[in-house]
Amino acid sequence: MIRIIEQASELNSLVNATKKTGLSVGFVPTMGALHKGHLTLVKKAKKENDLVIVSIFVNPTQFNDKKDLDKYPRTLENDLVLLKPTSADIVFSPSVSEVYPHGDLIGADIDLGGLDTYMEGAFRPGHFKGVAQVVKRLLDIVTPDRLYMGQKDFQQFTIIQYMIDKLKMDTILVVCPIIRETNGLAMSSRNERLSALTRKKAGIIYRTLLTVKNNCNISSIVELEQYGMKRLAALSPFEPEYLTIVDGNTLTPVTDIAATNYAVACVAVWADGVRLIDNIILKKEN
Ligand code: PAF
Repeated sequence: MIRIIEQASELNSLVNATKKTGLSVGFVPTMGALHKGHLTLVKKAKKENDLVIVSIFVNPTQFNDKKDLDKYPRTLENDLVLLKPTSADIVFSPSVSEVYPHGDLIGADIDLGGLDTYMEGAFRPGHFKGVAQVVKRLLDIVTPDRLYMGQKDFQQFTIIQYMIDKLKMDTILVVCPIIRETNGLAMSSRNERLSALTRKKAGIIYRTLLTVKNNCNISSIVELEQYGMKRLAALSPFEPEYLTIVDGNTLTPVTDIAATNYAVACVAVWADGVRLIDNIILKKEN
């Protein structure tokens, strides 16, 4: 039976008691509307930790668009059904005032080293400040040994790793590969809002990224980015916002793939009023 906890203090005491007995704690933060991608994170967390906590909290401070917040699916009952086979131990489902007892402006200004100004950050002002704020608060409550996040939100996990390092937080970030639908569309809670036809056609995003990857040693960055933008824009109803090749650590634009050791192509596309993001690692050397 999954235990549902709503109070931060109750969860914090339980985790403290668990860790005192030498058991490890894994944590998967989510905003609910769970899909197979989340469940993969939970299953991995369960393999690597004794106690697994999943938070379900739609964080208002990371929505730069109020309409997006209102439209965000809230499906707690179904989420609990989906979590059952993963053997997650605890669902933390707090209210807004439990997460932000002193108001949601407190803790909203974490230094993110400018990583929040590129790509998603440029198009969604304040978004990553809100993400860092809530993840910091959740980590303070849960104090996990390991934190699990998906590669789909490349900029998000890069920023959280930066915050963990900068604040010397005692948790290891484990990043898990993107889980895709059969046509290649990266799994996301937002996919539910696409029409059946658009969802089917949305495999174009991953196919475009694959072509970029296959050509990344023979075409220039400008050619690759232009090719990707044009291909996506040519298929209705897709409207690409950006397709950029960046350094996987600094998120700054790459000018020469041969001269970098970590290059990632990141893309954001609008379709049916939904913003979809995806990415592919072009090159990663240690
Ligand atoms: O990726 C998400 O679902 C959210 O940004 C997160 C990490 C749960 C913070 O609200």
